[in-house]
Amino acid sequence: MNIIFIGPPGSGKGTMAEKLVEKYELLHLSTGDMLRDNIRKDTELGRIAKTFMDEGHLVPDELIIRMVGEVLKSEKRGVLFDGFPRTAEQAKALLKITKIDAVMELDASLELVSERILGRMICPACGKVFASKHYKKNTCDHCGAELYHRSDDTEETVKERYLVYTTYADAIKECFAELNILHKVNADDSIETVVSEISEVLDNLL
Ligand code: AP5
Repeated sequence: MNIIFIGPPGSGKGTMAEKLVEKYELLHLSTGDMLRDNIRKDTELGRIAKTFMDEGHLVPDELIIRMVGEVLKSEKRGVLFDGFPRTAEQAKALLKITKIDAVMELDASLELVSERILGRMICPACGKVFASKHYKKNTCDHCGAELYHRSDDTEETVKERYLVYTTYADAIKECFAELNILHKVNADDSIETVVSEISEVLDNLL
């Protein structure tokens, strides 16, 4: 099965994906993570993407569609798309190459996601995500590496990313509306509750 998570920054797309991919044997395809990997490796795509990401703007559709297409060419498993598609163009391109079984919309207010994102810390070694509200150390409890804040996790950029999301969200949802596969989840609930609501939808697809 192929699943899409859409939602504003900090709504929990990555967190939920990490908790579900193993159980449902899905590839976790996060376009944000792929772009950050390109930035770390200093590729041409990474250099172009960084200028957009640091401003909270979307990376151009053609670059994203090509990057995702490369992965899908050789992937045999079902895919959990995290943060893709982000525009109607991306959604249409995806529907041309694969079937989508469910689109989960993680709904959250700007106030909530700002608090979460400004307190988010990430392990550079294993990618584990921490919330400074509950985790008081600055090293990873899994591999001991020093945690960091993403360069686009600033108050100003979060507002811009939220605005960008709300600008494109209706057009993305419209692309899937007639397939009747849209499910809205309240991302303000506890992690356990959100995981269980999404699992209920995915279990029905097995
Ligand atoms: P991307 O990396 O996709 O970032 P984003 O969409 O802004 O989302 P985040 O990763 O910030 O948040 P999330 O929803 O995954 O939340 P998380 O689980 O970490 O994209 C970054 C940039 O890349 C974009 O701005 C754009 O420039 C570019 N880009 C990427 N994809 C693109 C595309 N397709 N097209 C064009 N450009 C693209 O959770 C956040 C925090 O909250 C964590 O600390 C977590 O522990 C906590 N938390 C999560 N859920 C809960 C809960 N239920 N209760 C309590 N705490 C919670």
